Amino acid sequence: MSTGSKRDGFSSTLAALMVALGSAVGLGNIWKFPYMTGTGGGGAFLVIYLFFVFCVAVPIMISEFVIGRRSRLNAVGAFRRLTGNPSTPWSGIGFLGAASSYLIMFFYSCVAGWVYCYTYKAATGAFADITKEGAEALFSATIGAGGAEASFFSSTVLAPIFWQVFVLAVVGTIISLGVAKGIERAIKVMMPALFVLLIACVIRALTLPGAADGLYFLFHVDFKQVTPAVVLAAMGLAFFKLSLGMGTMITYGSYFTDDADLSLSPLKIAVADICISMLAGLAVFPTVFSFGVEPGAGPGLLFITIPLVFSQMPFGQVLLFAFFLLTAFAANGAMLSLVEVPTIWMAEEFNISRRRSALINCVIIGAVGILAACSADGTGYLGAATLFGKGFFDLFDYLSSNVTMPIGGLCIAIFTGYVMRRADLFDELSNHGTLRNDGRAAFIRVLLRYVTPVLVLVIFLNALGVIKL
Ligand code: PHE
Repeated sequence: MSTGSKRDGFSSTLAALMVALGSAVGLGNIWKFPYMTGTGGGGAFLVIYLFFVFCVAVPIMISEFVIGRRSRLNAVGAFRRLTGNPSTPWSGIGFLGAASSYLIMFFYSCVAGWVYCYTYKAATGAFADITKEGAEALFSATIGAGGAEASFFSSTVLAPIFWQVFVLAVVGTIISLGVAKGIERAIKVMMPALFVLLIACVIRALTLPGAADGLYFLFHVDFKQVTPAVVLAAMGLAFFKLSLGMGTMITYGSYFTDDADLSLSPLKIAVADICISMLAGLAVFPTVFSFGVEPGAGPGLLFITIPLVFSQMPFGQVLLFAFFLLTAFAANGAMLSLVEVPTIWMAEEFNISRRRSALINCVIIGAVGILAACSADGTGYLGAATLFGKGFFDLFDYLSSNVTMPIGGLCIAIFTGYVMRRADLFDELSNHGTLRNDGRAAFIRVLLRYVTPVLVLVIFLNALGVIKL
């Protein structure tokens, strides 16, 4: 096991914040958050989402940062070091986290592959004058739909696999370069670029005729649309959005600088993440409504509606390229944090080099992820193949968001709220007494003991169908 002194880490507090934000910002901002806000009651959904961010997500992120920085180890080793017990059952949280990383990466790398492919297509002008049927056919070809009759080596089947492998090669290479020289450097280029491209898309969207309908979709306040299911979905979104409950923030916390304020950083990250989601909504919905198209959710919105409406407006081809490039950057930042969890765990626990560990993990993700690439819409090469009644793509998504992440989040909150000594928690939150924030630390501990775990337990039991809200 490597020890603190030689360990790689972020070069500054600002860099640490930016990289953690880079993990939070991802495909979720672009296809989940704006749509859920629009259909979940607009402003009303935002209020509820903010409640969960504050009562569930921020306390769990604080816990993860505390566990990571105090131990300066990977998500498995962290619990061994903090409990002083090499065989502590709490290290199971780290193993579960690695499992969640794999599950998410299996399908996330597949979708990121489509985004890369669309970025390339936008750059080569493939969307000029595209029709609705053309956009749908292009998407089917990209995801390998209808490949069931094709031979494995046909282009329909191999295209999504090629792009997925390409994505993994990019992510694996950046990770191999190290925390400061790889992950941090990449994020420092991608995040500002993402922001600038996003602002350009927002300006264009807001200056279109009829943009106000899109604004209404996003910001109207309608509490009637807020059903119990919407409330639960808001909490699930807070988890996935802020990359929680699976050791990502434990791992990044272990690279944080000693003077970073661990209780304030998660608030800043959460607020910045919400701003980016809102900007994504402002870039998409005014455009969609301006052309009188129904906003769909998920893949349809990103890969069919957006190419269709963007290519109908002036400078559409340039903006389309900008939009997919920024989406690719967002997905990359999230994937770096996802792959880093098992990479640093294997490197530290089995004493192998970071490079070799990154390679092993990308090969594992690629090997299983191909199952997702081949079954995305149920018509791909493995279209009909199922496990537990679900296609591989949906299964990986379902298991991570509804099973492994909530369990991880619950255990993390209980660990910092009940197992970790109060004095240790206060010591870490105050940077060994330099910050004088005992009042805030006490408040956070109350949330971690009595509020966060209760709320998470409710969503989890509901997802399992044990209770019905
Ligand atoms: N937060 C990322 C997104 O919104 C997804 C993610 C989940 C990243 C878990 C890391 C860990 O797309």
